[in-house]
Amino acid sequence: MGAARYEAFRGRYGAWALVAGASEGLGAAFAKELARRGLNLALIARRGEVLAQVAEGIRAEQDVEVRCLALDLADPKAVATASDTLAGLELGSLIYNAASVPVGPLLETDLAEIDQAVAVNVRGPLAFVRALAPGMCERGRGGVVLMSSLAGLQGVPGITTYAATKAFNINLGEGLWGELGERGIDVSVCCSGAVPTPGYDRFSGQKVPGMLSAEDVVRRILDALGRGPRFVPGLTNGILAQFMGRLLPRRTAIGIMGRNTRRLT
Ligand SMILES: NC(=O)c1ccc[n+]([C@@H]2O[C@H](COP(=O)([O-])OP(=O)(O)OC[C@H]3O[C@@H](n4cnc5c(N)ncnc54)[C@H](OP(=O)(O)O)[C@@H]3O)[C@@H](O)[C@H]2O)c1
Repeated sequence: MGAARYEAFRGRYGAWALVAGASEGLGAAFAKELARRGLNLALIARRGEVLAQVAEGIRAEQDVEVRCLALDLADPKAVATASDTLAGLELGSLIYNAASVPVGPLLETDLAEIDQAVAVNVRGPLAFVRALAPGMCERGRGGVVLMSSLAGLQGVPGITTYAATKAFNINLGEGLWGELGERGIDVSVCCSGAVPTPGYDRFSGQKVPGMLSAEDVVRRILDALGRGPRFVPGLTNGILAQFMGRLLPRRTAIGIMGRNTRRLT
């Protein structure tokens, strides 16, 4: 990306980006790429020391400001704390990246784990968009990226709650694309395929065809912002999304995903 395109990106989505879930994996990659594009950063994750290391690395390489907030996004007060701490900053973009992933059959999963996934994956993006979008609307510009997954395109036995929350994010992102687009804000929901991250390694770690690096996924998503409501990074993932989401009978798609999840976990 050339200097002029970075400048345009900063003008449209700056001066600050909030990345929710930024201490590792795709979230840390978002933070680094946004800084490379000249945006100041507000980073949220639970592990303050790990987040501070990410921030330190970014400050060493880019001339941007980075603020860190050690918050649990499952806490209903997280959004109010973040709003108070960041009051006065021109938050021009929101990347809601954090997710909680209960693995295993629903009936064998603690209700506390399910509540955590609903709080982080469903209430979190709603509350953060509700808090940040009014400022973007006033300015008539801004960007919102919600991280979903190919797992959100059909039910997935073995990670039923997670897949359902990712389906929620697809509809949330598409609805917001319609509501906020007419007020000058670009919204995109990313249906990512498997990406090698600490979270993916905890889940399975297996290499799958067409896997992209976190850095590549993030660059592609940010480049696609403003080009439509839903984005699937990578050709292989795009073909998979067509098959699983549109062409195959639902029962076949659910069966394939369920077998795959059982094999991976
Ligand atoms: N990796 C993949 O294969 C893949 C595929 C499709 C979609 N996605 C989506 O992409 C996003 C990122 O995935 P990832 O693999 O990069 O995840 P990851 O490696 O597990 O990282 C998740 C990030 O979110 C933070 N986080 C998690 N729970 C949090 C909470 N309660 N409060 C605050 N921060 C929290 C974590 O930091 P702390 O632990 O420090 O809080 C970490 O920085 C997720 O939405 C996921 O659904 C990933």
